[in-house]
Amino acid sequence: TISKKIDSLLNIMTLEEKVGQMNQYNGFWEVTGPPPENGSAEEKYQDLRNGLVGSMLTVRGVKQVRAVQEIVVNETRLGIPLIIGFDVIHGYKTLSPIPLAEAASWDLEAIRKSSEVAAAEAAASGINWTFAPMVDISRDPRWGRVMEGAGEDPYLGSKIAAARVKGFQGEDLSNPLTIAATAKHFAGYGFAEGGREYNKADIGTVTLHNVVLPPFKAAEEAGVKTFMNGFNVLNGVPVTGSEHLLRDILKQDWGFEGFVISDYASIEEMTMHGYTENRKMAAKKAVEAGVDMDMEAYAYVNELVSLVKEGKLDEALIDDAVRRILRVKFELGLFDDPYKYLDEEREKEVVGNPAHHEAVLDMAKKSIVLLKNENNLLPLKKQGQKIAVIGALANDKNSPLGSWRIASDDNTAVSVLEGMQKYEGNELVFEKGADLVNGRVTFINELNFNTTDKSGFDAAVEAARDADVVVMVAGEHGFQSGEGRSRTNLDLPGVQQELLEKVYEANKNLVLVLNNGRPLAIDWAAENVPAIVEAWHLGTETGNAVAQVLYGDYNPSGKLPMSFPRSVGQVPVYYNHQNTGRPDEAADDMVFWSHYTDEENTPLYPFGYGLSYTSFEYSNLELDKKEASVNGEINVSVEVTNTGKYDGKEVVQLYIRDLYASVIRPVKELKGFELVEIPVGATKTVQFTLTPKELGFYNANGEYVVEPGDFKVFVGGSSNEGLQGSFRLTK
Ligand code: IFM
Repeated sequence: TISKKIDSLLNIMTLEEKVGQMNQYNGFWEVTGPPPENGSAEEKYQDLRNGLVGSMLTVRGVKQVRAVQEIVVNETRLGIPLIIGFDVIHGYKTLSPIPLAEAASWDLEAIRKSSEVAAAEAAASGINWTFAPMVDISRDPRWGRVMEGAGEDPYLGSKIAAARVKGFQGEDLSNPLTIAATAKHFAGYGFAEGGREYNKADIGTVTLHNVVLPPFKAAEEAGVKTFMNGFNVLNGVPVTGSEHLLRDILKQDWGFEGFVISDYASIEEMTMHGYTENRKMAAKKAVEAGVDMDMEAYAYVNELVSLVKEGKLDEALIDDAVRRILRVKFELGLFDDPYKYLDEEREKEVVGNPAHHEAVLDMAKKSIVLLKNENNLLPLKKQGQKIAVIGALANDKNSPLGSWRIASDDNTAVSVLEGMQKYEGNELVFEKGADLVNGRVTFINELNFNTTDKSGFDAAVEAARDADVVVMVAGEHGFQSGEGRSRTNLDLPGVQQELLEKVYEANKNLVLVLNNGRPLAIDWAAENVPAIVEAWHLGTETGNAVAQVLYGDYNPSGKLPMSFPRSVGQVPVYYNHQNTGRPDEAADDMVFWSHYTDEENTPLYPFGYGLSYTSFEYSNLELDKKEASVNGEINVSVEVTNTGKYDGKEVVQLYIRDLYASVIRPVKELKGFELVEIPVGATKTVQFTLTPKELGFYNANGEYVVEPGDFKVFVGGSSNEGLQGSFRLTK
């Protein structure tokens, strides 16, 4: 068995060789970390030859991977193969929508499939392991990395985490078209104070256990092979050094058998935080906390041997870490054949395969959310229309690819304009109006989007005036969200808002297509623009997906996975909040209730919201009983009828409210959903079962409890509407 093989290998390994397994180097391409101090390429090669490297990241392509794999296999004493990691976040070469967009589909099978496609391309390119899925829950759209997660809800986030893990890893990890996955960033990274990247998080036990940890637990239960710790400090302790999180919760309570990788240089950064005296102490702290592999901090490779020799670190902890790492290498089949993933023919055939384009197109269409459609302006007519297509983003082939797409080629997306041009019955006129970003637009360079040049406005306004309908594409460039892209402002960047208002003045038949990696505060547009389509950053097939939705060849069914605020000052605004003691408007103009004096409490568009070209009516909500024991179950059913003119899909959502409990429960919590396809005029009955898994919560001690009491249940097409029922749980 694998355990026996690991033991016999471990028995013959020197301490240096063991530490080598715990060391990961970047393939000389600095992603987001500081430049290495002592890590010249030559030194790295030397360490590879000396068996001091267990893994590399960001090496890609069969040729490249073979080159580094040959060094360790042929030149080191034991020839233990490297595990090659890579940020395969939403596709490899053929790109799916950004993860936040995919989450808007609520389509778990499509999401699984999208990860499967990403895994196949990456694996065929020599990669064994992705640093995905990011399962951080976040309520703060100022944080740029919300684009990489599944939004604000732990229930939806957990289902999606499991789907992604299964997609990447498949049924059998040794299949050369699957890769190991990583649940990241454990934990609390998405709660960065002020939404500012890498900032600390303070999270109480109740929120930690009920909101932040569930998607990680779901990933663990789905069999994820690795976890990555965050860069952040949580409640005063850098999570890289958190024994409580990594040993007590993850490895002990959850029984996780895979390994933990640090984030890029995060071990060394513990000294910067003020947690450890120097790199050596940081290395000791990280191993003791349970970080098994060091990503590019040079801490383990340089410090662990002496720590053990000086009696300052228990070698048993090193053995445990190495066992975990070797296990995953065995499971990948790397010991059977270190070159198993390195087949140039397969690489040619799989990477960019046409079937993958079909899959990402399907995913892209499913990710689109129709936010507004007054007077059925959409779908557009296919013939005889003059359409003005406005906005620099409409003609952009790079931006729609989104952030985190290291292996894809620039400018390979189908732009919205190109997608629309395939519908030849109309006349299209394109005007960009204004540029969105000044200067260089790359993943790692600071962006300047303070564009002030309005010289293209007149032509855009003219084109709008002259057209039957205007389609304006506006929002964020693909690199305006993602790591290191926090914002204090959630408006349309640059001069786009001004352009939008001018275009609207010229022609009110206006469709706004939004591109963004986070919720934006688009209150003016929501008030004035008749049709708004949320198209995120949809990846390689963006333009085709958007055009098919605009022309009604695909009826949108996406629902928001994150609330859209009315203004940035409301942030964090999320649907599953707790009630204050004074939630309701006081009588007689009294001021002492929980509110803002200058803005409503509700979001602009709530979690779970999204329209269709058809309409759905909910009726006959039934509960099979009014009372059940805390160990029992409640069955809920509802009828949903397609009352409109198009066949369509609806995400039927079930929420509960636990009316009183030992810790306050949210005013609503998602506890079930089903995506159903309903032809025009037809009715479908949808059933849910509420079990102790849905009805309980983690209390102030972090223990899972189901408490007796009264509950409400809501079933509808969004978190802010639906039919209501009630039931009681007894002892
Ligand atoms: O995987 C990423 C992580 O999410 C952020 N820091 C860098 C890692 C490797 O690129």
